[in-house]
Amino acid sequence: MKRIVLFLAVAVASIAVEAKTLVVYYSYTNNVHRIVAELTKQIEADVVRIEPAEKGLDYAANNYAIGSAQISAIRSNPDDASSYPEIDAVDVNPADYDCIIIGAPLWWSNMAAPLQTFLFHNGAAMAGKKIGLIVSSASSGIREVEGDAKRLIPDGVFLTPSLWIRSSQTSNAASMISEWLKAINYSEISGIEDMSPDQNPAKYTIFSVEGRFIGRDMLSLQNLERGLYLVNGKKVYLNN
Ligand SMILES: Cc1cc2nc3c(=O)[nH]c(=O)nc-3n(C[C@H](O)[C@H](O)[C@H](O)COP(=O)(O)O)c2cc1C
Repeated sequence: MKRIVLFLAVAVASIAVEAKTLVVYYSYTNNVHRIVAELTKQIEADVVRIEPAEKGLDYAANNYAIGSAQISAIRSNPDDASSYPEIDAVDVNPADYDCIIIGAPLWWSNMAAPLQTFLFHNGAAMAGKKIGLIVSSASSGIREVEGDAKRLIPDGVFLTPSLWIRSSQTSNAASMISEWLKAINYSEISGIEDMSPDQNPAKYTIFSVEGRFIGRDMLSLQNLERGLYLVNGKKVYLNN
């Protein structure tokens, strides 16, 4: 019995999980920027900040007139690329990630226009990816922002619930984020908890990345060579 337990501990320690997360966000007054800074203290992720191509716009002037005009243009013609404000080029390939977390300010009930531009051009490439949504607003509810995300990423696998952080709650973001990560089972998505030795090893089913059945429990790892495998559908790299 002791030998089996020892072997399981070695097998568990030898797995490194491959899941990768991208955080993509826009922020005008830096609330979402601060939220993302807290988020990336809690998870490993690559981070991309969207920037409008036109610099120095005052979105708050004249009762938020510029943002209002941009949102109206998208609402009137959501399928036309020219409805979306131009943004700086972004060097990121969504295909490289398993999970994509979107950090969005709310503008006039919708997702901030520059972030919509990014998703208009990249949302189709996020098909099948796990999508998390964090929204910051002064007070308005986030249902329409969720609607925008679903329209722009039609085949995303949305994690529920979304996280809504009001501007006034930005300084509490750390605890709200950690609760949210638990609520969406983020540790399972990233694959880390699955490898815990206190779980029943018999629950694991192992395939080669080409889909060849290899074994139904952790003990099968004993016979595996170094390389990539699928354990319960997740890619893992065996280092031993
Ligand atoms: C153009 C514009 C429109 C906005 N419209 C709303 C709104 O309809 N409801 C609301 O609660 N907050 C609204 N806000 C406030 C932002 O959602 C809020 O300040 C948010 O925290 C901004 O995030 P940021 O600092 O990352 O840009 C608006 C802000 C801007 C710039």
